[in-house]
Amino acid sequence: MIENDLLLRALRGESVERPPVWMMRQAGRYLPDFMKLKEKYDFFTRCRTPELATEITVMPIRQVGPDAAILFSDILVVPQAMGIHIEMQPGKGPVVPQPINTPEKVEQVIVPDVQEELDYVYQAIKFTKQELNGEVPLIGFAGSPWTILCYLVQGHGSKTFDKAKKFCFMEPIAAHRLLQKITDTTIAYLKEKVKAGVDAVQLFDSWGGLLEPKDYQEFSWKYMQQIINALKNEVPVIAYGKGCWFALKQMSQSGAAALGVDWTCEARNARYLSGGNITLQGNFDPARLYSKPIEIRHMVHQMINEFGKDRYIANLGHGILPDIPVDNARAFVDAVKEYRS
Ligand code: CP3
Repeated sequence: MIENDLLLRALRGESVERPPVWMMRQAGRYLPDFMKLKEKYDFFTRCRTPELATEITVMPIRQVGPDAAILFSDILVVPQAMGIHIEMQPGKGPVVPQPINTPEKVEQVIVPDVQEELDYVYQAIKFTKQELNGEVPLIGFAGSPWTILCYLVQGHGSKTFDKAKKFCFMEPIAAHRLLQKITDTTIAYLKEKVKAGVDAVQLFDSWGGLLEPKDYQEFSWKYMQQIINALKNEVPVIAYGKGCWFALKQMSQSGAAALGVDWTCEARNARYLSGGNITLQGNFDPARLYSKPIEIRHMVHQMINEFGKDRYIANLGHGILPDIPVDNARAFVDAVKEYRS
């Protein structure tokens, strides 16, 4: 039993007193206590040590008070389990020293036994569920196959992921083989996460919006849909695509319980494009958390009025930025909590 089940009710489309609120990337990044842990342990050590992952996951619940926890981990633990060496370089982000940029390299990528390879994640879920003790639901997540491919082929972060696109367009057969391997691994992984106890899952397609709509269908959505099909009867799925407003209609017919939208799509357009019945999540501009708390409160109330209090999950339109003052993050969460229609 979960005490505060606002998120789960919103995902089922039930009427609620006020919308639930959480923030993408709320675990880590901007919290001072997280920064202290960051000095002591490198990134993947934090991910691979269930006690640390649990501590970081629960930190925002205690210090900022959102209605759901999201497990501290990373979308890149999946390709790591597939035998690909990935480093997290401070100041640079993810680096793949040997990018997967030829058909031969794609053939060498394995679909692993996720039960064994990612056991540390399931341990972290079990510890976190104990620590949360039914207070709020726990969200598990995975990257979309396309977004993961972006890092594997490009070899590092990018604003355009031009090398990843080039590979897809010059070697489409190999690209699809890689996407399918990531998809198969992700489905097995998310099923294990559900077994370990997560209450909902979110798919992060952070780079879907870099593709034109037809390419989005071919290289991203096709695989997102496979994952949703495999999971939707076990757990509510939230499908988030940054810049993917053009796909909202199709996403709304996918079996996902909710769709994430970013700040470039107005609430009424998102409602219109998604058919008006599905739960939407978003879409506060993360940079707007630099505004004064009093302005944040005002803007949040306006955002809820625009989306409506039902079938809505208040969130940012992308991850919280690392230098947001904790008081401003709190103002965002409190503004939703004090909302009355
Ligand atoms: O709420 C949470 O933060 C939960 C954990 C979480 C992390 N990454 C921890 C993390 C989640 C949900 C992610 C998802 C993720 N990781 C995405 C999709 C969402 C998004 O923001 O677009 C992507 C694209 C990644 C890949 C990744 N991991 C990048 C590009 C970086 C470097 C830049 C940065 O700081 O985001 C990471 C590192 C990372 N993942 C950090 C954290 C807290 C920061 C590095 C550190 O703590 O040492």
